[in-house]
Amino acid sequence: MTQQTSKKILNIAVIAGDGIGKEVTPEAQAVLDKAAQGDVSFNYTDYDLGAERYLRDGTLLTDEDLASIGEKDAILLGAVGDPRVTSGILERGLLIKLRFAFDQGVNLRPSKLYPGVSSPLKNPGDIDFAVVREGTEGLYSGMGGIIRRGTDQAIATEISMNTEFGVERAVRYAFELARKRDGKKNVTMVNKTNVLVHAGALWLDVMEKVAKDYPDVTWDYLHADACTIFMATNPSRFDVIVTDNLFGDVLTDLAGAVVGGIGYSASANINVANEHPSMFEPIHGSAPDIAGKSIANPTAAIVSVAMLLEHFGYDAAANRIHRAVEADIAENASKKRSTHQIGQDILNRL
Ligand code: IPM
Ligand code: MG
Repeated sequence: MTQQTSKKILNIAVIAGDGIGKEVTPEAQAVLDKAAQGDVSFNYTDYDLGAERYLRDGTLLTDEDLASIGEKDAILLGAVGDPRVTSGILERGLLIKLRFAFDQGVNLRPSKLYPGVSSPLKNPGDIDFAVVREGTEGLYSGMGGIIRRGTDQAIATEISMNTEFGVERAVRYAFELARKRDGKKNVTMVNKTNVLVHAGALWLDVMEKVAKDYPDVTWDYLHADACTIFMATNPSRFDVIVTDNLFGDVLTDLAGAVVGGIGYSASANINVANEHPSMFEPIHGSAPDIAGKSIANPTAAIVSVAMLLEHFGYDAAANRIHRAVEADIAENASKKRSTHQIGQDILNRL
């Protein structure tokens, strides 16, 4: 699951992007450099991509950028999005394009309620689960179309594409993760097999097939709607959740909310075959409302570089970051601090 590397220098493409992405990413880089000292070092290349670039010259992601980023070992992404750009343009033209171009079939999104953070739930319990969101298929496939637009006979289709290969890749990853994690050793598949009878059948078939290879891991199934109820009433029941792209998108925002806000939630878009760079990003967006004020919390971006280290097998360095983040949150979660101050406070604990 991790990409063991003998390299002593990893080349990282940095797409700080828009809004608070630009503010949190340098903090994460500083923490990454310090945490990895002695193990590995990083050579960063900045890419001017995102709304600013698009508004300036109409470019989203050129073939040259894509080829150049594809040569790197990994990608660090801050956030993309800007109210001046029509919804969908940056998302499809940049973020999802990167996930697809580099075949990032697993979007791994851990959720943990850190001691010191208050959950909106009255009795949150011990929340520590991970969502394995399929990253390249489902309703994100881009298949479909709209015709007769602007008439009263408009027709639109949006096709959920599910392949045995893509589903198995995500499901296998989930079982491996459940085996490795210090948790309940359980995988919960989430779908809507009662309605999505075609895609749901494929997913269930794959679950049944893959589960046979993991007798030490149990599994269960929840409909997506029922899953939201459990997530809001008993989130500690979950260990690893595996689900399709859109359900995963929705559930991980809910998951972020129950652990006290997506300011703490990080993600890894993983190219499972290690043929292309994987991409590490906080789950939060560019937050235009607080951008430029240096008040964004860099913790999610910092946790995402810990995921980068884990990806390359530097578990000790990753754990140093996790411990520093936990200690920082436990002591300071309620204090008002600037983006840089939080970054420094975490860095100083390494
Ligand atoms: C996420 C985001 C993206 C997604 C958007 C910005 C395209 O919501 O990473 O969860 O839908 O995947
Ligand atoms: Mg989302």
